Amino acid sequence: MASHANALGAPIERREGRAKVTGEALYATEYTPPGCLYAWPVTATVARGRIASLDIADALALPDVVDVLTPESAPRLGTSDDATLAVLQDAKVPHHGWPVAVAIAGTIEAARAAAEAVRVTYATEPHESVLGDNTADAYRPEEANGGHPAERRRGEPEEAFAAAPVRVDVRYRVPPLHNHPMEPHGATVNWHDGRLTVYDSSQGSDTVRSVLADLFGLPEEQVTVISEHVGGGFGSKGTPRPHVVLAAMASLHTGRPVKLALSRRQLTELVGHRAPTEHRLRLGSDVDGTLASVIHEVTTHTSRVKEFVEQAAVPARVMYASGSSLTDHKVAALDVPTPSWMRAPGEAPGMYALESAVDELACALGLDPIELRARNEPGREPDSGLPFSSRHLVECLREGARRFGWADRDPRPGIRREGAWLTGTGVASATYPVLVSPSRATVTAHPDGLHVVRVNATDIGTGARTVLAQVAADALGVGVESVRTEIGSTGLPQAPLAGGSSGTASWGWAVHDASRALAGQLQCHTGPLPPDGLTASADTKGSADQRSAFARHAFGAHFAQVAVDTDTGEVRVRRLLGVYAVGRVLNARTATSQFIGGMVMGLGMALTERGSVDPASGAFIGSDLAGYHVPAHADVPAIEAHWIEEWDDHLNPMGSKGIGEIGIVGTAAAIGNAVHHATGVRFRELPLTPDRVH
Ligand code: MOS
Repeated sequence: MASHANALGAPIERREGRAKVTGEALYATEYTPPGCLYAWPVTATVARGRIASLDIADALALPDVVDVLTPESAPRLGTSDDATLAVLQDAKVPHHGWPVAVAIAGTIEAARAAAEAVRVTYATEPHESVLGDNTADAYRPEEANGGHPAERRRGEPEEAFAAAPVRVDVRYRVPPLHNHPMEPHGATVNWHDGRLTVYDSSQGSDTVRSVLADLFGLPEEQVTVISEHVGGGFGSKGTPRPHVVLAAMASLHTGRPVKLALSRRQLTELVGHRAPTEHRLRLGSDVDGTLASVIHEVTTHTSRVKEFVEQAAVPARVMYASGSSLTDHKVAALDVPTPSWMRAPGEAPGMYALESAVDELACALGLDPIELRARNEPGREPDSGLPFSSRHLVECLREGARRFGWADRDPRPGIRREGAWLTGTGVASATYPVLVSPSRATVTAHPDGLHVVRVNATDIGTGARTVLAQVAADALGVGVESVRTEIGSTGLPQAPLAGGSSGTASWGWAVHDASRALAGQLQCHTGPLPPDGLTASADTKGSADQRSAFARHAFGAHFAQVAVDTDTGEVRVRRLLGVYAVGRVLNARTATSQFIGGMVMGLGMALTERGSVDPASGAFIGSDLAGYHVPAHADVPAIEAHWIEEWDDHLNPMGSKGIGEIGIVGTAAAIGNAVHHATGVRFRELPLTPDRVH
């Protein structure tokens, strides 16, 4: 067999790129089965209470309107673990934006007009929707997200902090944030001949299938969910969302296909958000910078529908050696939409606070912030005591410093003036855990030389098709152009979601194993292949799991250069540079895109993105793209992403760590630290908008 050893890692263009930019690639609400109807949700305009009256007569009188489903007429749902999906089941309103009805019509315009003509009155109750006034009500949950204990204590952190000669005791705040994928959430559902065919914008269609089967009392075999192309998710499409339940209700009720696409405003209240976090950081060190105590305490919010605890103090359990530490989470259940996953949940806000505080300690010590981090590099994971499978954080910091020109930096803050502008530079570390889940896959060798990979992976914009073809080509020892990848349907072998930066490791492991099995079969095979080809399958249940004798994490270093307008308070980022240690990089081009995408999202978190809950109504206000500024081209400066060679045998057969999330993790802290270096002022609440920086 010819050697094609360079398939893995090569900067191959993503295969569906042309289909996407020419409009050939179909997204969930671009399918229009014959006879398709359109649905538009009616959402609650109060933060807490009950529906007192719901009058659909005016709506039904409008042209082209088919029906309006209400809590009285909607199908009864079976049980689900996720209470956010129990829509139209009773008259209770748990938060602003909760669905209270869904209008169904022949066109999207008619459906929207009908939704607006539904008259709803509410019996309201007093509500609390803004974190901060409610901190006293916050309780310590049993666990933070990811199954992490809410509180961990090592040694005597308070005593060690009090005794430390150099101390930093600071508070940081991160507001609610919205995922705002380019493609809003939507679904097209077709109930026909006792089968449910669902096109959903989801990060994991196998879960959508099993949840819909449970909710509607259908055998899974009668449900097919297709998520062939997905225009971003960032976690907000990681679990089934109410839109697909409402669309399925409407299709079952009418017996016709139904399409439902959420508007931007509906999206912010129905698909989760990053919960706001308040951080208190106490770092105590020796005069040489050796940490004696790390204390990171987080307060966040959840809804009254479901407990969701952003695990923002968890990265402090991984990052630095210290004599003692305390990491703790508290959560207040408020009358707000239910928060959910958003890129690097836990790590993004947690590392913003921790890495800002580390910068403050470096300033207090008069020590270079890279040197301070290097002095506290742990030999083992501090809280667990486990050895790291690989950890090259200091190498990332040093390589970044070399590329960025850090050695020439004058550490004094507030002294570099260019007219009205002050300039500065900052650095921060990043970390993200190595996650992996079991997956199945098949690989078929056809007589014409084609190899077909089948796995229900989801491509949320990452290039999954392309990298899985590379994994298969490498394991089969064939050219990558001879491999076709079929993904994005529950008709394919079962696979986990595109989330937790674990997709490529999870699917790729199964694709690798199936490819190696097929290569073995092909070696023993004599004569021509049968017309259907030869197929090998793999199931990594039993091999791909989260348990390891090693602490497994990716690491990175972020550098930022900023200019701050001293008249207006405007912050412009001039340069961002990231260096990552993420095991083996499997496609240099798509990996670069992922890193840069994460850094752009971190730039938005640092400077412009802020979800605001209106205390009077409990609504997210200014949450469409006019009021919630996601970075546009003019905001995005020169961005570079690099990585260092890292070989780690304790990960998966490809030797890769996840890369989808780490790019956002340290970016906001690096920018905030650069703003301090520029101005000499420490701003501790994101985003760094002109009204705050002025
Ligand atoms: Mo990502 S927030 O793990 O989908």
